[in-house]
Amino acid sequence: MADTLTGSAPDASAPVPEFPMARAAGCPFDPPPALQAQRDEGRLVKVRLWDGSTPWLVTRYEDQRALLLDPRVSADITSPGYPLQAPNNGKNNISFILMDDPEHARLRRMVTAPFAVKKVEALRPGVQRIVDDLIDDMLAAGGPLDLVEAFALPVPSLVICQLLGVPYADHDFFQENSKTLIKRDAAMEDRMAAHGRLIGYLDDLMGRKMTEPGDDLLSGLVARVEAGELTRQDAAQMGVLLLLAGHETTANMIALGTLALLENPDQLALLRDSDDAGLVASAVEELLRYLNIVHGGRRRAALEDIEVAGEVIRAGEGMIMPNDIANRDPDAFPDPDRLDITRDARRHVAFGFGVHQCLGQPLARMELQVVYSTLYRRIPTLRLAAEVDSLPFKHDGSIYGVYSLPVTW
Ligand code: HEM
Repeated sequence: MADTLTGSAPDASAPVPEFPMARAAGCPFDPPPALQAQRDEGRLVKVRLWDGSTPWLVTRYEDQRALLLDPRVSADITSPGYPLQAPNNGKNNISFILMDDPEHARLRRMVTAPFAVKKVEALRPGVQRIVDDLIDDMLAAGGPLDLVEAFALPVPSLVICQLLGVPYADHDFFQENSKTLIKRDAAMEDRMAAHGRLIGYLDDLMGRKMTEPGDDLLSGLVARVEAGELTRQDAAQMGVLLLLAGHETTANMIALGTLALLENPDQLALLRDSDDAGLVASAVEELLRYLNIVHGGRRRAALEDIEVAGEVIRAGEGMIMPNDIANRDPDAFPDPDRLDITRDARRHVAFGFGVHQCLGQPLARMELQVVYSTLYRRIPTLRLAAEVDSLPFKHDGSIYGVYSLPVTW
């Protein structure tokens, strides 16, 4: 079909670029240059995935938001044309994040209450204690140490464990298996095995909660299983989703956010020297926008023909919407490649958009506000203990960050 933006037909002989695209060397925070070039051109293009399939790439902020609100767009991983991130035999799907309404909404509603802003605010003093205790431990141990291991992973893991009713003592087990599950290049058998172990673990735990219920989210799910509203398998899947999403994402925002601030000392000084809770909240939004750690892109399939940006996405075709590039769209955020914690970045799509928008965002925001307002103030001389170029960035995962972050003070 003619491209209504330019009046010319897309060049059918042009090579189809591979996705994901590579980042430029030495630019750990910026989206791949090829992705930026596609967005600046404005039209939709097709990309080639690991399995040879060629879904559409949607890069512009407004196009992504329109599609993510569109009921003709499916998040169901079994929909024809759904662009898979990695080999999948349909047996390791993680609950309602990969389903459509009405089943998605039915399951999501069962776990929304604990993530409401008021409930999350009640957790703030406990999170502050967790953060302070971990910083005490770091100061007692002395630098250099790995901030990921000593701080970034424990903070959200401790919080989500309390909320779900999962023993924190098991953190090595679930962190290791979560890591394998979200590794794009892990063999399918390894990911299946990790998923199976997590499901088995959650199922066992819920079995125990049948006889010894607690005041926690998993006990709430167990009650629904007993009431016949939820299968045990669905309950375990939801447990895996919440446990994984609840710690991996926020941990990466803590470590990568710290690195971004250390690399932008003027912004770090502004944050550290201010008592303004509004500035802290604004810094969290800006770092979410700037870093946008969920990198695999929102993946969807068209259920009907959909016209967007002068192109028609046909029913049964897939689409990928990388929100890192949308969050750097100059039409949505002026001077988008600059980290500016004073800007109003609240319209970012780092938590997605539409019905699948992140359930845990009030919790993630609160944790990050506590972390960013405490860590750099309590350790004002915090600095990197390695060259940025030598850091192990997570180029192989669907969630971006660093595997370790050596720091000292
Ligand atoms: C900074 C941290 C976080 C980021 C950047 C993040 C990002 C996202 C994104 C982009 C989505 C949308 C997925 C899609 O549209 O396909 C999502 C969904 C989700 N997130 Fe988060 N997330 C974070 C923290 C959390 C936390 C702490 C939890 C708590 C358990 C959580 C639970 C979920 C759940 C359950 C969904 C699925 C929602 C649905 O499908 O209806 N996330 N998240």
